[in-house]
Amino acid sequence: MVEVNMWIVVALCVSAATLTAALDNGLALTPPMGWLAWTRFRCNIDCDNDPDNCISEKLFRQMADLLVSEGYKDAGYEYLCVDDCWLATERAADGSLQGDPKRFPSGMKALGDYVHAKGLKFGIYADFGKTTCEKYPGSEFYLKQDAQTFADWGVDLLKLDGCYSDVRDYDYGYPSMTKFLNLTGRPMVFHCDWPKYQILAGITPNYTAIKESCNLWRNYDDIWDNWDGLSDIINYYVKDDDDFMSYSGPGGWVDPDELVIGNFGLSDVQERVQMALWAMLPAPLIMSNDLRNIRNQSKQLLLNPRLIAINQQQLSTSARRITTIGAVDVWTRSIMPAGTQVIALVHMNITRNYAVQARVTVQAKEIGLTGSSGYDVVETFDGTSLGHFNPDDTIGPLVVDPTGVYLMTATPTSSIPEKKLDNN
Ligand SMILES: *[C@@H]1O[C@H](CO)[C@@H](O)[C@H](O)[C@H]1NC(C)=O
Ligand SMILES: *[C@@H]1O[C@H](CO)[C@@H](O)[C@H](O)[C@H]1NC(C)=O
Ligand SMILES: *[C@@H]1O[C@H](CO)[C@@H](O)[C@H](O)[C@H]1NC(C)=O
Repeated sequence: MVEVNMWIVVALCVSAATLTAALDNGLALTPPMGWLAWTRFRCNIDCDNDPDNCISEKLFRQMADLLVSEGYKDAGYEYLCVDDCWLATERAADGSLQGDPKRFPSGMKALGDYVHAKGLKFGIYADFGKTTCEKYPGSEFYLKQDAQTFADWGVDLLKLDGCYSDVRDYDYGYPSMTKFLNLTGRPMVFHCDWPKYQILAGITPNYTAIKESCNLWRNYDDIWDNWDGLSDIINYYVKDDDDFMSYSGPGGWVDPDELVIGNFGLSDVQERVQMALWAMLPAPLIMSNDLRNIRNQSKQLLLNPRLIAINQQQLSTSARRITTIGAVDVWTRSIMPAGTQVIALVHMNITRNYAVQARVTVQAKEIGLTGSSGYDVVETFDGTSLGHFNPDDTIGPLVVDPTGVYLMTATPTSSIPEKKLDNN
């Protein structure tokens, strides 16, 4: 319980995250950042016809190289994660999992070594059930052996999916894997799909138990590379069923799924919505895109130091939608230094097939800026100062594009010297 008390010191309000013990493996004290193959490369195993994009050691080595050479690692993106379809169709003679011999000819340990030599961390995928979602060998009846295999390969993060399993087994099954991972002696971030499949089956997840056993958990459908998929997830987080956001905090984070920024399906303003909300929630920042071929604008967004700094605070506070102004949702999150608020104005809708910008004019206190000494407000994406605002002052008009976002950081004026107000 010692670590819990530590969080209470820095927390700005007492939430379930501060009251619930997190998995005690010393990991994920801030939301993990990295890259995962799934949404962009899925289960493309056709290396004969599509050698550059198939799930293979070549693809992962290229992405590892680019995480480093393009500055993503320096910005914090450190986990290079394999998803489904890396496995051979059969286990080895001794029962251990093995990579597909044609697509991963050097073996998974060699890939882990390559990733580590780049200063990155190695993430892998398995499934709690009989088979993975794409019908490769599952870990049912092999959890202990597979945990040891992953430790032997130098795995730093395990995503354990839940296809082809019985959700009634999860409440003891996922904690068993937590124990087996712990017994290997190698700290591994443990990502669970435990609540996601329980919710799909109509079972209310026990988030207290989940947080004790997992560093990350998914509780909603997979993201898709389009606005419908993204806005669906955002609306689920608005509803916050069973108060799930309150369990998210250092050591254990709810995961709304990958960042799809830099792919095909989102417009520029929609990409900004995802980055703003994922930074704020806060969510793990796990990209799924092709780092060999990414728009400069998308890359700059993913590397935005002000958004990453908001995301990487060691705090239990989560973003909430506090109100709605016309077509615009107002989200806020408290961050450090004390009293600082991040405010997102998110315009979720395209009205009747034509785009109408929202113009928001509010008194500062209406968007949570109630501190009597006022705030210095900065537009967060580019860091430009918007000026000083007291609670009764009017802010705006702020223009918010349809399916777009206006993001601000408001720092209490007394808490930092005037000189530091500019973006750094
Ligand atoms: C295993 O669990 C113990 C007790 O919770 C913890 O102190 C230790 O750091 C864990 N080890 C690993 C490798 O996760
Ligand atoms: C949820 O899990 C916690 C911790 O394991 C346990 O103490 C509690 O009884 C569980 N709640 C329910 C409703 O099962
Ligand atoms: C990409 O954007 C950054 C920041 O806006 C800019 O400094 C850089 O010159 C751009 N690079 C290219 C290749 O356009």
